[in-house]
Parts: sequence; C-alpha cells; structure tokens
Amino acid sequence: MRTEAPVAVHLSDYAPFPFQIDQVNLEFDLDPDATRVKATLAIRRSGAADAGLTLDGQGLKLMKIAIDGAPLDPSAYTVEEERLVIPSVPDAFTLTTEVEIAPAKNTALSGLYMSGGRFCTQCEAVGFRRITYYPDRPDVMSAFHVRMSADKKKYPILLSNGTPGESGDEKGGRHFATWDDPHKKPSYLFALCAGDYDVYRDRFTTMNGDEIALAIHVDKGDAERAAWAMDSLKRSMKWDEEVYGRAYDLGVFNIVAVRDFNFGAMENKGLNVFNSAYVLADEATATDADFEAIESIVAHEYFHNWTGNRITCRDWFQLCLKEGLTVFRDQNFSADMRSRPVQRIKDVIRLRARQFAEDAGPLAHSVRPDTYASIDNLYTATVYEKGAEIIGMLRRMIGEEQYRKGMDLYFERHDGEAVTIEDFYKCFEDVTGEDFAAFRRWYAQAGTPEVTVAETWNPDTNEIEITLSQKTAPTPGQPDKKAVPIPLQMALVDGEGNLAEWMTLLEDEDVTLTMELPEGTGRPLVSVNRDFSAPVRLKRDLTRDQRLALVRAETDPFNKWDGVQSLVKEEILALSEGSQAEPDSALVDALGGAVEQAAGDPAYAALLTRLPDVGELFLERQPADAVALNAARRKLQTALAARLGPFIAETLGKPTPTPYDPGAEQAGVRALRTALIVLLGVAKEPSAPAMLERLYSEATNMTEQIAALRALCVQGGGAATAPLAKFEVEWKSNPLVMDKWFAVQASTGTAETVAKLAAHPAFDLLNPNRVRSVVATFAMQNLAAFHAPDGSGYRAVETIVLSADKANPALGARLLTAFEQWRVLEPKAKAAAEATLKRLQAADLSPNSADIVARALG
Ligand code: PHE
Ligand code: ZN
Repeated sequence: MRTEAPVAVHLSDYAPFPFQIDQVNLEFDLDPDATRVKATLAIRRSGAADAGLTLDGQGLKLMKIAIDGAPLDPSAYTVEEERLVIPSVPDAFTLTTEVEIAPAKNTALSGLYMSGGRFCTQCEAVGFRRITYYPDRPDVMSAFHVRMSADKKKYPILLSNGTPGESGDEKGGRHFATWDDPHKKPSYLFALCAGDYDVYRDRFTTMNGDEIALAIHVDKGDAERAAWAMDSLKRSMKWDEEVYGRAYDLGVFNIVAVRDFNFGAMENKGLNVFNSAYVLADEATATDADFEAIESIVAHEYFHNWTGNRITCRDWFQLCLKEGLTVFRDQNFSADMRSRPVQRIKDVIRLRARQFAEDAGPLAHSVRPDTYASIDNLYTATVYEKGAEIIGMLRRMIGEEQYRKGMDLYFERHDGEAVTIEDFYKCFEDVTGEDFAAFRRWYAQAGTPEVTVAETWNPDTNEIEITLSQKTAPTPGQPDKKAVPIPLQMALVDGEGNLAEWMTLLEDEDVTLTMELPEGTGRPLVSVNRDFSAPVRLKRDLTRDQRLALVRAETDPFNKWDGVQSLVKEEILALSEGSQAEPDSALVDALGGAVEQAAGDPAYAALLTRLPDVGELFLERQPADAVALNAARRKLQTALAARLGPFIAETLGKPTPTPYDPGAEQAGVRALRTALIVLLGVAKEPSAPAMLERLYSEATNMTEQIAALRALCVQGGGAATAPLAKFEVEWKSNPLVMDKWFAVQASTGTAETVAKLAAHPAFDLLNPNRVRSVVATFAMQNLAAFHAPDGSGYRAVETIVLSADKANPALGARLLTAFEQWRVLEPKAKAAAEATLKRLQAADLSPNSADIVARALG
C-alpha cells in the first residue's frame, strides 16, 4: 500500500509570491535523452524583506546555479524532492540555473516530452516545474525569451511562444532559433515544439488591420487534413472580433498537432498544442462529430487568448474563471456557426451525461472548490461545463447588452493580471449596480439543484397558480445546502402559441406565481426552464397524457425535445422495472410521427430519435440496474425502428449528399442518416443486416461508414466480423481511424472484447487516445457490460488502468472516474465495484489515481 498521502491544497492558504520575475531567458539544448535547460531569471523582491526564494522543480538534475554570475555555495541552497530553496537572497538579482532532463523518458506527457519523434511541451497545470526551477504558479507573470538549439536534420522546425527572432546554424549539424513573447504570461502557458512537420499556412487580417501569419504543423503528409482546423481558426478570430470586440495580438499564430496528448488541446500563448484528433479531418477519415469537435476546440483554445492568457487565474482554484467562461464562449460560437437549438440540446446532453453524474456521486465538488489534492483531477465537467452554465445564467439575468459591457470592463480593468472570480463579478456589479453575492453561491455549492413544479388551475377565476421550489441534495463535505438564484425562463402555452412568456428568478426555497387568464381561455400548459435556462433537474408530477399534450403544444425547441426525452425516460424505467412488458404503442407511434414530421430539420429529427443513455437513467431511480435498463432501452429502440421502417428505408435509400461538405446543412442530413443507421442496428427485420452491409461498403464518408460498422456490431451474429477485418486492413496506418475501430468494438462488446483489444499489437498503453478509445469508451458508453454484475467489466478496466497509471498518472486517474456512479448500482454490481476500488486502493497507484479512488470510496 502506498504511504505518502496526497497533500491537500487550500484556497484559504493563498499568499502572493514574494518576488516578481521581470524577464525569463530560457536556453534549450535539445536532446531526447539529455536536454540542458539554462534559465536566467531577473528577480525583484515584492514581498517581505526576509522572505527566501522557493522555486518549484520536479525530476530535474541541477547542474549549475549562480546569483548575479557568482556560483552558489552548496550551503546557500537546498534541493528537495519538489523544490529548490535559497533562504537568503538580495532584493534584486539575476538567478541562473542549469538543469538536465530526459524528454524521451517522460511518459506522463507533462513537461517536455517526445511524441512521434518530436519535442513538445505541456505545462498546464504544473508541468513547467519539470522543465526548470521556477515559481510554477499562475500569478507569477513574466516576459519570456527563448533560445533553442537542436539537430537540424531531425528537428528542422523550432517553435516557441510569441514571435520568431534570430536563427541560424551551429556546429555539429545543429541549428538554433530564438522566440520572444512580449506579453507577460504565467509558466503554464509556456510552450516549445521542435521537429519535422508539414505546415498548412494561411493569413488573417485583424479588425485593426494587422496581418497575422497562421500555421498548423502536422505529421508529414497530413497538411491537407488541417484545412478544416484552419478554416475554423479564421472563423473564430473573426467571431471574437465581432461578438466580443477582441482581436489577436501577435504577428504569428501557430498550432502544432501531437499524437500523444492528455486532453483535447492547450492554449499556450501564440503556440497552441493540439491532440491530433482535434486538428486532422477529411471526409474519408473523420466523422461529422470530429469536424464539429475540431471547430469548437480550435475556437476554445483561440478564445483563451483573451479569457485565460491576457487575463489569467490568480490560483488554480479559479480554474473556472478561464474554463467556464471559455466553454461558454465556444458554445456560442458553435451555435452561431450551426443551429442554436441543436447546439443547446447537444450541450445539455453532455452536461447531463457528465456533469450531473459527477454532481450526484462521490466525486462531486463545487465549480470553484476550496481544496484539492491533485490539480490534474480538477479538470472536470463541473469546472468546465457547469462553469459555462453559470456564465449563461449571468447573461440571461442581466441581458446581452449589460453582459457585453461587463466583459468590456473586465478586459479593460484586468488585462495583464491574474485574477479571481470575485474580480470578474465586481465588473458586472459595477456595470449593473446589482449585487451578485447570492448568485456566486453557484461557485461554492456542489450538487445539482432540483426544482419542483406544482400547478393548480381554478376554472372559476381563470387563474393558474404555479409553485416552484428548489432543493439541493447533500454532497461530500457539504451536508447543508442554501438556495441559489435560479433564472427560469417560463411560458404559458395552449397549442396555438404563447399566452405569456417571462423569466422567474427563483431566489428563495420556493415561490408561488398566480396568473389570471382572459375569460374563455382553457387551462394553459406550463413550459418551464425553456432553452434549459438553468442547470437544474426538474421534478414535475404530470401524467403521460399531460406530458404528451405539453410536448405537442411546446413552442421552445429545447423543451419540445426534452419533453420527448422525459416521456421516453419514463417508458424505459417502466420497462426495466417490469411494470410494463412491452413499449406502449401509442407512445412509439407519437415518437415515430415526431421524427417523420421533423424530417425537414434533419439535425433536430436525429436528436428526436435519440434515447437517453443508460447513465442518464441512473440518476432517475435507484438502485440502478445497468443490464435491465439497457435491455429496456433497447426494447424501446427496436420498437421505434419497427415503427420507422418505411421512413428508414426511404431515407437511407436516397444517396448521401455529394460532394462532401462538413458544414451544418449537410452534417444535418448525415446526422439523421446515421441516427437511422443506429436504429437499424437494433432492428429485428431480417433485411437489416444486409442493408447495413450495403451501407457500410457503399459509404463515401467516415460518418456513415463507422455508423454502419457499429450497427453491424450491435446486430451481432457475426455480421460485423468481415467488415471489421476489412476496416483494419484498410486503415491500419492511420492511428486516428484505428482509434475508431477500437472504440466501435469497446462500445458494443463485453469484458472479453476489451481484453482482446488490449492484447492487440496496435494497442499502445502510452498513447492516451488509444487507451481511451478502449477503456473510456467501454466504461462510459457500454454501461451494461462495464457494470456487469459478475464484475468482469471492472476487472478488465482495472488491469489496463493499473499499467496505464504507472506511465501516465493523469490518464490513469481520468479513467478511474468511470467508477463514480458505483454507489447507486444494484447490489451485485455495487459489491463488485467496491471490491475493485478496494483492490485499487491497496495497489501502487499514482497520487492522482489514489485521490480519485479515495474520494470514490469516500
Ligand atoms: N487548458 C486546456 C483547455 O481547456 C486543457 C488542458 C489542461 C490541457 C491541462 C492540457 C493539460 O483548453
Ligand atoms: Zn480551456
């Protein structure tokens, strides 16, 4: 059993760093096995006169250290496991250190590491300390000058933040380049990349008339596949100018794609580093979902230039200050590029699947926590997605105009600073004259509020009375919850349209509204939380007929879709609990009819065919039986497939749109086609497998090809064997496409499938995309198999995670979050999950993973 318990960090312990660093000069002598890093720091005291200098450092071999050019006597400093301490320093001085590191041995993918034979860095949150001794905290901001030298043949392109300066040849076949970043930045935004790339170039002229050179660096031969990312980048740059009045601020903007990356991408100043999955796309190798993800992640990282980089976080507790805000910005960008209602539905699906589940389990934490054990584990759906929802509520409450004024003030007041959530809200308080103290509870309180809606109709007075009440269940460490201000967009509808529309701010525990309707109007229907105006769970005591009537009369596209979802949810629950043997044919008919009627808006129609995921149903009724829920869900899906038989045949009988275009319109058509392919996967019609085989072999794009392959796997009975083999032969040299091949099988197979995939020669424990395509896909998208009552799913995951965690703690810990729902499971799965977690706790886990397991067991 491991001995060192992770040391918790507390927000209340925050103290400013007692020194300023005016300039950082870094010299890299790059070599995969032994890179030398010389750092020259111009340091000035800004705190206590007697404060010593403590720098962070991890896994560094200190070769030299000097102050103002004079080597330090070993008695003048101490080198500890994770820091360098110089107890006595002057008020202003230059510190020079030289360290040696081994990028080729860095499998954690934090700090300087090798990917595909090239150098790259990842410094957020605390990777810079693995490169050199430094105050590795976001509130220390400095100007960086970088010089790097490397073998010219192997690493012809040398990149860092800012703009390029001198470059030239050196002896021994080496060359060098220098980069200057005039914008002060924290160490987590530092980046360096060196290697041989193909480059896709373009230009952008800002609203100020500045010419920006844009470049995306990718693997040899992949340049054309960066076209969509480049297009997305230019649209993001324009959007931020138009919507937020923010222009880019350096002459160059570089993106580098790497194969081995722990997250989606990283917003390093002027040099964004991307997981190659979010850069490379063309119709043959990427799905529409990939194109969409690229568009939004490119935008997200670009938007960080203002929300994150120019104004950064004072400490890591404020992570949502940059992440929640930037997710909110990228969601709105996507909504403007595509369909706003469809985007909203997709954002809510994601929020419910990931954030609501997190909020309901042992890993629940507030959007701005006040303590953490492992900073890597703070990059959560709560910080990102719930953080974005809070900004959305703020904008709804104060309106677009005041929101923009507040943002303008924020940019003006805090440019170049490292700030807090309080600083952010102060700007909105100054602009609106309102007080957001109560609203800020959303940042402090974990858990998803539950809003109960009760209504009574008085036919004599023509009055409707609506009572809204809120309650948040206890979460770990927070037994008592206060009311939070909840902006609820509401309407009364009657089948002809809206009788009234307004916003209620539910500030206290409950509120009752009474509305009188004109004489002769019948009982109206109440539409609540329109457009999902607040991230809450609604409890309504409505009969199926009332729900159906509401769905028919709804005027809000989100609520119409959500009304269908709640009907379907109830149906699946009833089927899984055995209170009903077969799906209600009236409901299936209504659902099928709704899909057919929406065919003119195919992206929306596709969402209507979607049944809630098993994980979403865990939240509804407990204990949760994943196997029974999955079987019930499938039963309903099969019934829907039968109801839509002719529609499916007709729609899929038409050719797919050509020539291919990744834009919203065509993507919508393909979204409906693939949604129907999904239904074919569970269809009992004897013709279904043959139809799928034809769709698979005739597919002209990856979107439909992979959908058909997956549906064949779902059909079972060997229908997928030949196509899977063919697919592998065809794509074995394209890692991103092979990730899909692994994922398709992991999402439809069993524990045995997972073990087989892990034994495949192309399975690579050091590549996060590959590991995730098997383990995360299995554990998060194949819940009936993962939560198998015999524990086989858990054992399959446990084995892989134990090995992955050794090399890459951030990856191991993230995979383990799949266990977060274990407490709500039916007794057999629950016992198996608990036994697995206990075994893991006794194993030799990284501090990151130990933190997740400890909290999961709580
Ligand atoms: N800051 C990155 C983003 O959200 C995420 C990230 C965190 C990437 C930590 C790598 C490491 O845009
Ligand atoms: Zn981000």
